[in-house]
Parts: sequence; C-alpha cells; structure tokens
Amino acid sequence: VQAQESVQVGLVLPMTGPFASTGRQVEAGARLYMQQHGDEVGGRKIELIVKDDGGVADQTKRIAQELVVREGADVLAGFGLTPLAMATAPIATQARVPMIVMAAATSSITEKSPFIVRSSFTLPQAALGIARWAAENGITEAATLVSDYAPGHDAADAFRKVFEEAGGTVIEQAAVPLKDPDFAPYLQRIRDAGPQGLFVFVPSGVGSLLMKQFDERGLDDAGIKLIATGDVTDDDILDQMGDVALGAITAQHYSAAHDSPENKEFVDAFKEANGNSRPNFMAVGGYDGMHLVYEALKATDGETGEALVEAMKGLSWESPRGPVSIDPETRDIVQDIYIREVKEQDGELYNVEFDRIEQVKDPVKADW
Ligand code: DHB
Repeated sequence: VQAQESVQVGLVLPMTGPFASTGRQVEAGARLYMQQHGDEVGGRKIELIVKDDGGVADQTKRIAQELVVREGADVLAGFGLTPLAMATAPIATQARVPMIVMAAATSSITEKSPFIVRSSFTLPQAALGIARWAAENGITEAATLVSDYAPGHDAADAFRKVFEEAGGTVIEQAAVPLKDPDFAPYLQRIRDAGPQGLFVFVPSGVGSLLMKQFDERGLDDAGIKLIATGDVTDDDILDQMGDVALGAITAQHYSAAHDSPENKEFVDAFKEANGNSRPNFMAVGGYDGMHLVYEALKATDGETGEALVEAMKGLSWESPRGPVSIDPETRDIVQDIYIREVKEQDGELYNVEFDRIEQVKDPVKADW
C-alpha cells in the first residue's frame, strides 16, 4: 500500500483496438486538466495510472480489481464503452471506491453502483434533443439505425418515444452489430422504405464509415435527412468526413465549436498539448471527470471513499461544454443539450450550435 499522501486515480480505457480513439481522447482530457490545475489538491498528491483494457469487459474488470487490491487505487475512472462500465460496477461497490464514468453513456449504468458518478452524458439526453428538433422541423416519418448494444437501444427507444409523442412515426428500425459493422444492407432497406429522416447512433470513431456508406447507398441523393446524436459527427473525425456530412443535424452536449471563453481556452490548450488535434466529447468527459475528483477532494480535505462520492453530489461548474452539475439523486450529469448543424467554419467542418435545451437531466430517470 502506498503512503497516505498520494491519491491514486486508476484510469482504465481502451487504448488499443477499434475504440482506441476514445481512450486517447479521455486520457488527453484528464491529463490536460492536471496540467492546468497542478497535481496537488486537498493536501494530497494526485497520481494518474493509465491502463489499457483493449475494449474488452473482462479485462476492464480484472484491471480494476488489481488497481484497487494491489495498487490501492482510491478512484477508478475512464470506461470507454457501456459493457466495460457495467462489468466494473460490482468492483466499485465491493471496494467502496468512487468510479467516475467519463465516456460510457447507457442510462442505467449509474444504477449499477452507488459509487458511480458520471461526467459524460446519457444517450436519451441527446436523442431527446434531436427527436424534438425533427418533429418540429417537418419530419413526420423517420427510420432509426443504431449499433446493436445497450446505448444503441437506449438511443433508439428514446428517439422513438419523444418523436412519436410529438406526432411523428418511426417506419423502420435497424440494429447493426457493434463489431466490424457493415451498414450498407441496412441503409439500402431504409432507402427503400423512404423516410424523410434517418436517426443514427454509432459510438465514437465509427461515424466516418457510417457517413461514407450513407453517401454510397444514395440516401443523401434520395433526400433522406441525416439526424443523429453527436457521436456520429464526433469532432475527432468530422473534418475528414467530407461534404456528405454538411448539413447533418445532431444533438449533443459538446462541440469543439461551442462559443464560450472556457471552451476556447480548452480547445487551444488541448490542441497545443496534442499535436494540433481537436478535442471531442470524450476529452471533455475526461477533463470534467478530473474536475470532479479535484473539487471533491478539496471539499473533503483529502478524504476518499464514500465521502468523496458524497462531495461530488450537487457540484456545479462551468465546463468547456457549458454549465453543468451532478444530480445528487442519480449521480448523472445535468447539462445543456445543443442542436447543431455540420458547417464549414474557418475552412474545417464543425458542429455549429444553433439551439439548446437547458439543463437536461437523464430523461429516463426524470420521468421524461
Ligand atoms: C458509448 C460509447 C461511445 O463511443 C459513445 O459515443 C457513446 C456511448 C457506450 O458504449 O456507452
């Protein structure tokens, strides 16, 4: 066991494999926070221990167990995909160690352990925003296409509920395997069904392939409007998508183009520290997750365990994404959900925010 002074934060992320961009972004966000705020808080030194789980749930769980048992980790953090967070929740409960979910976004994750606090978002938060926009902007018939795992189902269910309550109809639903996806046959079926809009969720990093196949299958030419959660037009890959992405309307909690002094400083510092690459919503999850750890340690004077979780409840601050707080009831993040359009700005593609729904709680836990 380490000397009492240092607080060990075990950051478990997919640093290799198909979701390595998530790991890279979350780690870079967490490191930037530490670079800007120093490595001492509440009288204790903060140490970040980064571990690669390769995006495999059994690995995440095993690594988390080792971190708390052998390395005496005081905080578990990261969690790039829902199954990785789900697998680790019992470890947090058993070890009574706070677990900061910085990326995974299925609504029910926070219900799996009272030690979980989330700095990312929930898919229903984002899907609600785009479903309302679609219903209010002339789309009456829509199709949905999502990755076939928990956040995809959360997204499709939330979109359908809100869209249909607003008078729309979902005429076709597709769920595509998460692993090595080929969207083409599903897109063909949707093109044939002829909706006015196609709602999509795929996890961070996968949006480029979706966009390419959307173009190749002629959905753009058929006049089917792409509407999505912001995961699809992820800032990490958006600029390489090309013209097919132009005009896509998405809803989410973070855009690198968010117009605030806090975000401008964040984006500039992130680019400076990361070879000019842009932060995406995963980076903000890592950055704000570290903010939670720092602010809670200040409040507890360096005490960890259950007291640290208690100190996170109700915290509110100005994030690069905008104003946020931790819902003390659910330990989820309450945040503005922005409606954005992909546009060219300063010669690059960005999600340009044009509307927002203020202070959205996870709708699944807030009775919609
Ligand atoms: C999840 C993963 C993502 O990459 C994303 O953009 C949203 C959700 C998840 O597995 O929970």
